[in-house]
Amino acid sequence: MNDKKRDAPSYHRNIEVITNQLRIILPKNTKYVLEIGSGTGQHVAHFASEFPDIVFQPTDYKVENLESIDAWAADQKNILSAQRLDITKTDWLADSTRKFDALLCFNVIHITPWEVTKAIFIGADKIMNKDCKIAIYGPFKINGTQTSQSNEEFEKWLKGRDSAYGVRDIEDVNKAAQAYGFSHIEKHPMPANNFINVFART
Ligand SMILES: C[S@@+](CC[C@H](N)C(=O)[O-])C[C@H]1O[C@@H](n2cnc3c(N)ncnc32)[C@H](O)[C@@H]1O
Repeated sequence: MNDKKRDAPSYHRNIEVITNQLRIILPKNTKYVLEIGSGTGQHVAHFASEFPDIVFQPTDYKVENLESIDAWAADQKNILSAQRLDITKTDWLADSTRKFDALLCFNVIHITPWEVTKAIFIGADKIMNKDCKIAIYGPFKINGTQTSQSNEEFEKWLKGRDSAYGVRDIEDVNKAAQAYGFSHIEKHPMPANNFINVFART
């Protein structure tokens, strides 16, 4: 294995189910997809092989992740080189002339401060096409309640790392979305008490 390629164990557990769900979620005729917090780059590399007609733009906040993303992407023609992106900086992807049809954000919003969740919609308003979809994967609370004991324990662990982290409530995320012209349109239950929640322009 190329030693720049890092491995996330969770990738192997969730990649097939996420890919299958994306077949349902991605807008028809999707051309360009932006991923926020691409991490190791394994997800985006797999999506690129499964959706050869779509061009993917991976990004991550941490410079050290960009090398791993590019290493996993090397075999695919339809992945642009990874860009550093801190989504809380609102000039994100300022140089991009491209508008995206879908934005993917997996396992990010519970392990970052709340401002990151809001920033997704602030940025998306600038850089996404009219009929875009935003797909956010991870654990969520529903009506203020955890969906499982394991998520409750996970949240305690998250808050022990940083009190600003936490399992987000779908309704709170929806309110953040609505402030920037988006709203929650689909909730896809996933294994291990996760969801993909989808948002679109109102
Ligand atoms: C738990 S990892 C998830 C990685 C990958 N999406 C996955 O599911 O395996 C969270 C990712 O969010 C990124 N991240 C944290 N803060 C961010 C920010 N402000 N802007 C963009 N990405 C951020 C981290 O660098 C990290 O790659």
